[in-house]
Amino acid sequence: MVGARANNLRDLTVEIPLGQLVVATGVSGAGKSTLLRSVLVGNLRGEPDRGACTRIEGGEVLSDIVVMDAAPPARSPRSNPATVSKAFDGIRQRFASTREARARGLTAGGFSFNVAGGRCDACEGAGEVVVDMQFLDDVRMPCEACEGRRYRPEVLQVRLNGLSICDVLAQTVDEALALFADDRKITRRLEPLARVGLGYLTIGQPLSTLSGGEMQRLRIAQALTESSSGCLYLLDEPTIGLHPADIEVLLDCLDQILDAGGSVIVVEHNLDVIRRADYVIDLGPEGGPGGGRLVVAGPPEVIAAHPDSHTGAALRALAQGGAAAAQ
Ligand SMILES: Nc1ncnc2c1ncn2[C@@H]1O[C@H](COP(=O)(O)OP(=O)(O)OP(=O)(O)O)[C@@H](O)[C@H]1O
Ligand SMILES: [Mg+2]
Ligand SMILES: [Zn+2]
Repeated sequence: MVGARANNLRDLTVEIPLGQLVVATGVSGAGKSTLLRSVLVGNLRGEPDRGACTRIEGGEVLSDIVVMDAAPPARSPRSNPATVSKAFDGIRQRFASTREARARGLTAGGFSFNVAGGRCDACEGAGEVVVDMQFLDDVRMPCEACEGRRYRPEVLQVRLNGLSICDVLAQTVDEALALFADDRKITRRLEPLARVGLGYLTIGQPLSTLSGGEMQRLRIAQALTESSSGCLYLLDEPTIGLHPADIEVLLDCLDQILDAGGSVIVVEHNLDVIRRADYVIDLGPEGGPGGGRLVVAGPPEVIAAHPDSHTGAALRALAQGGAAAAQ
């Protein structure tokens, strides 16, 4: 990237290696989001107005650009791991192809809770009804008509290996993988969820009830389903709110993207992530008008050895702390 000038960036030229874990660092206001989100992603997506820059070289080898924000996407109570992974399409087809379903004239759409037909009419497939409490918060109650099962009785009577569609939605990702082991159309959608450590999630659990870290891994799993090869992933501060153990899981997910031939850039303050990077781009040295320059770029050791880098100083302190603790 040559000559980035948006916001506080001072005619910045940086190299961004592909196929590696690249971490952009620097104090708050240094220009990280401007450089990557506005300039890099803006120009790669053909929206140069978002961030001024002279030119970007080598972007043509990228097949796609995926930006993952801290802000979660729409969390509809009707979306769940089965629907967002699209495994539910294959599951509904399996139910529709049973003799019981055909005898009742039920198609795959009859096993959807998003369209009228097979779903419970009273709650429109939500399994719960919202009670307006006037001045208090709305209260959600299980639907009395379907007892929270979301479907009409005749749909629930259709069984696949003895399980109703409601029973299947109550299974975990791991259980569903075993149940549909012979159906590549379904397993190929569920496998990424297991790979990012979400095998324990119930496939029908509403996304509105997932934890922040679970939601983030779900999105990484979704990105893994698409072909990761040649794709550039940008994550802006993905470790916010994550436990150190969850950060390990996140780093593992990023490794999977790299193994699949993707490229990853992470904007991050977390030192555990920074020291695991292949290549660090340290911006600053300060925030606002005092920033917008490249302080130093290279592997974490090079950053740690740089006298003017705040990130380098933090890495040195971490290394010394570690050495002191080991003595
Ligand atoms: N639309 C804008 N107009 C003017 N200045 C902006 C605009 N967006 C950002 N800036 C300024 O540009 C500088 C760099 O902001 P940027 O968001 O890139 O920082 P950052 O390194 O991502 O910081 P943080 O770690 O806090 O997210 C800041 O001083 C910010 O106030
Ligand atoms: Mg930022
Ligand atoms: Zn109902």
